[in-house]
Amino acid sequence: MNQDQLKQLVGEAARDEVLKLPTGQILGVGTGSTANYFIDALAPHKAHFLGTVSSSNATTERLLKHGFKVMDPNEVDHLPAYVDGADEIDPSGYMIKGGGGALTREKIIASMAKQFICICDASKQVPVLGNFALPVEIIPFSKGIVTQELIKLGGTVRLRVSKETCADLGQTSSQPFVTDNGGWILDVAGLKIANPLELEAQMNQIAGVITVGLFANKKADVLLVSNTSGVSRITF
Ligand code: A5P
Repeated sequence: MNQDQLKQLVGEAARDEVLKLPTGQILGVGTGSTANYFIDALAPHKAHFLGTVSSSNATTERLLKHGFKVMDPNEVDHLPAYVDGADEIDPSGYMIKGGGGALTREKIIASMAKQFICICDASKQVPVLGNFALPVEIIPFSKGIVTQELIKLGGTVRLRVSKETCADLGQTSSQPFVTDNGGWILDVAGLKIANPLELEAQMNQIAGVITVGLFANKKADVLLVSNTSGVSRITF
């Protein structure tokens, strides 16, 4: 089984998991390739839910294409569950997220949800977080000072860029990657995150930081993880 098939397998397991919820509720939906498999698997059962709250423009587009109702989070008080992937997850359920750039809305929706259901293939499970560069969304105006502060915490910092090709000139140029919120992302490599709760709190204190891609204060409650033998369910 390749990685895409493992993502599809866990997406289908997440569908079965959320269909155990009572009907007529609102579901939080994450972003990324694993979340996409979940959305596709859930589409035939969309009537089970009153609606969804989406963590990115890309996810909204996919949900609408399938005919799901997508609701404004400001009109929703409570979500029974939020389903999303992760870039890394440790044995306590702490995660690094934001590889797809949607970390801020992901964290907001996760904070609204009673249960965070993380879905991933086994390659995302790590003993200690930090091999995957930690995404930090910032106000563009603050890039210089936030970079300095993040370096002091022991990381090497790189501004995330998106490559754009100018068809007329056949040239490629690098522009800062811009999030759905108009923020930029600094990817912080080289961290060995022994205490995710402490590091998340420290980074949250830096002026100019919008969101840190460490999900420690709001970690996973349930992990559905796939490998070639099937899907395991772990609770934290
Ligand atoms: C999106 O910003 C991320 O947090 C994703 O949830 C994470 O990168 C996992 O993505 P994949 O499922 O594509 O690996």
